[in-house]
Amino acid sequence: RRVAILISGGGSNMVELVRSMTGDHPARPVLVASNDPQATGLARAAAMGVPTAAVDHRAFKGDRAAFEAALLEPLLAAQPDILCLAGFMRILTPGFVQCFEGRMLNIHPSLLPKYPGLHTHARALEAGDTEAGATVHLVTPVLDDGPILGQARVPIRPEDTPKTLAARVLTAEHRLYPAVLRRFAAGITQRIDL
Ligand code: GRF
Repeated sequence: RRVAILISGGGSNMVELVRSMTGDHPARPVLVASNDPQATGLARAAAMGVPTAAVDHRAFKGDRAAFEAALLEPLLAAQPDILCLAGFMRILTPGFVQCFEGRMLNIHPSLLPKYPGLHTHARALEAGDTEAGATVHLVTPVLDDGPILGQARVPIRPEDTPKTLAARVLTAEHRLYPAVLRRFAAGITQRIDL
């Protein structure tokens, strides 16, 4: 299976996904693309030998469809079977999602359906939750809402700040996403819970 990964920043989840696709893994990374040409994850992908592309969404001044049309060019040229959003911070139109429906995954730093959207860690702390975590789901036109493929739980500690909780959740993401991708690439969609 051919996997393309979309990032917006450091790409730590992308790095773990690329690192996991070795040996008898049923998938290979064919492209890492970003909406930000400055995303440091692009250099990390190149250093691992993965082709990269960047389409600056700021060049399309809010014309979301035009940005996505530009992004689709290198993306479709790579002929991916699976598209992984990993720290990708742009909302995609239903039209774009439909191009990849059923084979586009996203990782979200909360235990969905709790806390879709942004600032998930601050919201969990604010609510007095005792646990937090990450979710990998299939992407559908509704933001952070598709069928769940896996979740990883972490404890919330009394002294936690959004920063300390984010760090703990990120390490859980790095375990969860590769585990889910390996199964998904093998055709297994039954959810896992770590
Ligand atoms: C992190 O907040 C992570 O929780 C979320 O996207 C952000 C950046 O992740 N999934 P990455 O390091 O770019 O993968």
